[in-house]
Amino acid sequence: MRTYYCGELSKEHCAKTVTLYGWVDRRRDHGGVIFIDLRDRAGVVQIVSDPQRTPESYPIAESLRNEYVVKILGRVSQRPEESLNPRIATGEIEIYADEIEILNIVHKQLPFVISATENESVREEVRLQYRYLDLRRERMSQNLQLRHQVVKTMRRYLEDQENFIEVETPILTRSTPEGARDYLVPSRVNEGKWYALPQSPQLFKQLLMVSGLDRYYQIARCFRDEDLRADRQPEFTQLDIEMSFMSQEEILSLNEGLVSYIFKNVKNIDLPRPFPRLTYSESMDRYGCDRPDTRFELELVDVSDILQDSSFKVFSEAVQKGGKVKVLPIPLGNEIFSNVRIKPGGDIFREVIEAGSKGLAYIRVREGLEIDTIGAIKDNLSEEQKKLLLERTGAQPGHLLLFGAGNTDIVNKSLSRLRLVVGEELGLIDHDKVNLLWVTDFPMFEWNNEEKRLEALHHPFTAPRPEDLADLKTARAQAYDLIFNGVEVGGGSLRIYQREIQEKVFATIGLSPEEAINKFGFLLEAFEYGTPPHGGIAYGLDRLVMLLAKESSIRDVIAFPKTQQAACLLTDAPSGVDLKQLKELHIASTYKPKSEKV
Ligand code: AMO
Repeated sequence: MRTYYCGELSKEHCAKTVTLYGWVDRRRDHGGVIFIDLRDRAGVVQIVSDPQRTPESYPIAESLRNEYVVKILGRVSQRPEESLNPRIATGEIEIYADEIEILNIVHKQLPFVISATENESVREEVRLQYRYLDLRRERMSQNLQLRHQVVKTMRRYLEDQENFIEVETPILTRSTPEGARDYLVPSRVNEGKWYALPQSPQLFKQLLMVSGLDRYYQIARCFRDEDLRADRQPEFTQLDIEMSFMSQEEILSLNEGLVSYIFKNVKNIDLPRPFPRLTYSESMDRYGCDRPDTRFELELVDVSDILQDSSFKVFSEAVQKGGKVKVLPIPLGNEIFSNVRIKPGGDIFREVIEAGSKGLAYIRVREGLEIDTIGAIKDNLSEEQKKLLLERTGAQPGHLLLFGAGNTDIVNKSLSRLRLVVGEELGLIDHDKVNLLWVTDFPMFEWNNEEKRLEALHHPFTAPRPEDLADLKTARAQAYDLIFNGVEVGGGSLRIYQREIQEKVFATIGLSPEEAINKFGFLLEAFEYGTPPHGGIAYGLDRLVMLLAKESSIRDVIAFPKTQQAACLLTDAPSGVDLKQLKELHIASTYKPKSEKV
């Protein structure tokens, strides 16, 4: 039987005889003495074998190769002074191997080196294809173990301290699009009908409140067929929560308790409470986005009023058409951002163009607060405007002022992108900092220009603020997002629990009464049987763990993730299926197959 995991051993185990199981991380032959780094999920420990002290194991130690699976019986000893290794947790000890048993060998050349001591960077496609090997690597194994710790801590808090109960909700469910496309599953027994995989358990958790469950949670798998990015997967996991009879304040406070408990237990970080808050409109004004990275201070400054009468048309027309002129003032920006980077063709220019902007105006502030510009702005700024600009932006000599002018959404999007690029480049972002904040008071709806209709910003079950009920179109929602270092890690709201209000919201997003009944009749009906006021939240577990692990992709904290093309390179999913299977499902594909398989 195993007595310890490799990574658990330390000086206090000296003189003990131990049995270890693991993989050969590395084998070094130092002229007659063989050193083996033995690895298991807890870490690495050094095994020693030589002909004098361990004659029995020596010939076997000689034959070991990387990734052989072995059992080792040995004695723990203190390492000699000159071979202490402070870089690993077990670096003060080593184990003299009395017996080594090879349990399995490696038959093929490994696609990459597993050992963390080799700084080999491996292409992600190869890692995903051989994920079971990739997960042997210390970093990945640590990430999965961290994920487990986070989930365990969540359960402890919710169940043991706050009386939540876990309920599973269906995976085969009805299509109720929440913004993304559904993954559909054909029904064999109900010909021509389809299930959808849940985008979230939203409606079921609300129905559980109607059922009187009072406090529900679930570690829930969600499916969304949307364009993928580094922080999005087509299937991902939420910590999904719903509560009855709680005000927004009470919900936020309970959740601050949960998040603080996770940080304390997993990272030993004490989070200051209450968490800071920003309203949506303040966040948009100051940072240009609804998930600001507040680890650094650089803020946008609205100068629309100063420039609304400017003879520089780009500025004045922007304001006249209902848009804005905003500035990102960059301290010492003159030294770092050359004209080449800011003008067409430059990387900074490209950022704003990708955000939908047409151009990028700028001003350099020189010694004596002299303003240095080029092009059209040069001749179109009055002395008064210059003075006001300097005052409003707090600009000092060396400052670079980048301007966004036009449609407010585009201005915000451009400058918030620049804010992050600049923050990173100026080294303003402390990567050890943890900044959590709530963004609240989102608008209920936003305009979908493609479909020419309003759509729910969160989802159509979110309750409007009672004082805004008179004009739903412009109402603010009782909704909140939790932002962690500029990433949305959670979002929720108080819900509508009255049929009339729910019907009005459906009408506002363009659902006819018939469509509303057809899609959500079961919910509307449930509201008529005594529905308690309720609300909740869902956290993106993958995103939260990604940030706690300081990874930049959620693929690195998911055991078997999909690629950007929504494929699993290990199992080669999605794959073709036999025509027979399709026939049973009453499906004919419109895809033109090259062979029998579709
Ligand atoms: P929402 O759609 O905001 O809310 O999702 C909640 C959280 O889930 C995470 N998330 C994702 N993570 C990885 N990949 C994705 N494709 C992905 N999409 C979302 C985010 C997000 O904050 N039913 C509501 C919650 C509620 O109102 O209670 C919902 O699903 O971190």
